[in-house]
Amino acid sequence: MADELCLTARKIIKVYPGTLALNQVDFNVYRGKVNVLIGENGAGKSTLMKIIAGIEQPTEGTIQLNGETVRIRDTREADAMGIGIIHQELNLFPNLTVAQNIFMGREYTRGGILIEHKKHLEKTRNLLARLEHPIDPNILVSDLRVGQQQIVEIAKTMAQQDLHVLIMDEPTSSLSTAEVEVLFRIIHELKAQGISIVYISHRLEEILRIGDYVTILRDGRFIAEEKVRKIDIPWIVRNMVGHNETSFIHKQEKTMGDEFLRVESLTLPRKGGGDLLDHVSFTLRAGEILGVYGLLGSGRTELFECLMGMHPAVTGDIYLEREKIKPRSIPEQIKRGFAHIPEDRQREGLVQTLSIAKNMTLASLWNYTRGIHLIDKKENASITKTIEELEIKVADRNLPILSLSGGNQQKVVIGKGILTAPRILLLDEPTRGIDVGAKADVFHLINKFAAQGMGIIMVASELKEIMAISDRVIVLSNGKLTGEFCGDEITEEALVKASAIGHSTFKVKNIS
Ligand SMILES: Nc1ncnc2c1ncn2[C@@H]1O[C@H](COP(=O)(O)OP(=O)(O)OP(=O)(O)O)[C@@H](O)[C@H]1O
Ligand SMILES: [Mg+2]
Repeated sequence: MADELCLTARKIIKVYPGTLALNQVDFNVYRGKVNVLIGENGAGKSTLMKIIAGIEQPTEGTIQLNGETVRIRDTREADAMGIGIIHQELNLFPNLTVAQNIFMGREYTRGGILIEHKKHLEKTRNLLARLEHPIDPNILVSDLRVGQQQIVEIAKTMAQQDLHVLIMDEPTSSLSTAEVEVLFRIIHELKAQGISIVYISHRLEEILRIGDYVTILRDGRFIAEEKVRKIDIPWIVRNMVGHNETSFIHKQEKTMGDEFLRVESLTLPRKGGGDLLDHVSFTLRAGEILGVYGLLGSGRTELFECLMGMHPAVTGDIYLEREKIKPRSIPEQIKRGFAHIPEDRQREGLVQTLSIAKNMTLASLWNYTRGIHLIDKKENASITKTIEELEIKVADRNLPILSLSGGNQQKVVIGKGILTAPRILLLDEPTRGIDVGAKADVFHLINKFAAQGMGIIMVASELKEIMAISDRVIVLSNGKLTGEFCGDEITEEALVKASAIGHSTFKVKNIS
């Protein structure tokens, strides 16, 4: 029996000033299936999803839900039709609690007035327990890490009643293996309830595991639709980029320099007791790529923040070229040659009101200033070089940063770090939301920097990536260093095992 269509989009056109984001796109959503949408950064995936979720209006084209043509004028109407979305750029209110965010706009009330806070708290606790992530429902969203916010976004859509279509725009971009497994179990449950899922991801292995149907977009156009069991990764890449991808990530043979950075017994107390980092020690040589692996909350991001001088309460010793340093502020650390590419581009990486170009040179302004005047020529030349090197898809560098697709925004954050000409580069999830082709570009660039003698520390939640590029990997769990691996010792099993040490929440047996 043929699979039944739940929602169809026909000949969708979306014009933004200066950009044709969607050009007569057709898209099918099959009932009770995982419908995967793939395409390079800027292909139009999020735009199409925003139209289906009522956030944007199509310039032209029609949408049918259960065989009837519908107009989805806003998110409220989408909600009423049972269409929910987990946004790529997380969409929570930072100054509200987890529970308030989850029940925003769909509060339980008594007598239509009194909000039932207790019920919200209890339901939030249940949802988060189902996601195997016992985050405190009373905590403010601004106190959560990106990955945790992603979990809250997922919980929020699960709280929606009468859900028919659930759109997930890169739900796993900040999640590591164990957390992805939990999400996949939930997706199976939702499918069994007849809910249709639209799933966007740049992690291709993931798509082959979870997907039933796949649709490919390229440059705003529909390219292909196929059943996932009939295709493989080369098919995806071919359709995505229009030719056979030739660039792969290789570990490069190189000679490493002397010890560059030494960290001894780094300890960062947690506000409510315990330690966010607990006596962490490691070294980094010039030209070395050191991978850091760990689950959400393992301390991976805090480690970078300490090195950037963002936590005055940290204790322990840090030596740069055998000289003791005390990181006190970000500008000071940038002057010492550190650059940090943060995980949370929305909050720390970018200034949303500034243009693409201004965002890129923000951290390195003194390179271009003499007195108070900006030297535009030099600045412009560096920006052009970086846009080319990272193949950032920009129509006009003077447009606001928010007009770029998610992956291209991430590339601007990377460009911003590189423009400071650092000696030590701290990369926190550098490939988050970046397509396969661009990932290879970013890794080539990292290899090139290492070959020039830069010291590189990279946090990545995708095992394959960290394994492909690191000379050495350290693993953190609950703020403690639980493993260090070199060369052939760097295996999936070893990293996953070490990352689960001291963890009770995650069931290691479920990790494939
Ligand atoms: N508000 C906007 N104003 C102008 N252009 C926009 C706007 N939003 C998106 N675009 C443009 O539309 C195109 C499609 O963007 P979209 O966000 O849909 O890409 P995407 O496929 O989701 O990419 P990614 O994988 O990077 O998330 C891009 O060229 C982008 O710059
Ligand atoms: Mg997108």
